[in-house]
Amino acid sequence: MSVDPKALSIVHYPAEVLRQKAKEVPDVTADVRRVAERMIELMFEAEGIGLAAPQVGLPWRMFVAHVPENEDRSLGADPLEATGEPMVCINPRLSQPERDLVPLDEGCLSLPEIVGEVRRPSRITMTALGMDGREFTVRAAGLLARCWQHENDHLDGVLIIDRMTPPSRLRNRNALKALEQRAVFH
Ligand code: NI
Repeated sequence: MSVDPKALSIVHYPAEVLRQKAKEVPDVTADVRRVAERMIELMFEAEGIGLAAPQVGLPWRMFVAHVPENEDRSLGADPLEATGEPMVCINPRLSQPERDLVPLDEGCLSLPEIVGEVRRPSRITMTALGMDGREFTVRAAGLLARCWQHENDHLDGVLIIDRMTPPSRLRNRNALKALEQRAVFH
């Protein structure tokens, strides 16, 4: 699986890769690390807070996330809500979701023009491999917890349009159709 990281770019719905179940990364090789670095670059360029490998056309279980410390002050100064540095999560597994679901508007770099309300647990635990190939377990709250869940959904082919509340789905119906049309006439 040799990939040229420079050739990677963000793919948009309805690209097929966004609907696939991604495969585990068998080994954290130099190739995988280069792809992760390129994904961080693309995430920053697009001013996103997370990006999953299927969004750059690779059906791998890997995502990057970066929620800077002051982004989420409205939800409180909980250190679990932020990442100091961009983080790389390979073969992530989420567990121990908080029972209460919190609604918030979400967008996605693969769904331009689409924003809708998604209800998610406010806290979650993640076990994943880092860039050094070592396993780590961390807990997050607020926007960071939401970001991990959104990115982890991408690894199972799940998008925000599947999770939106019915009023949001209705509101985004035309924008979604426009994206589908655009793909047909490309
Ligand atoms: Ni997304």
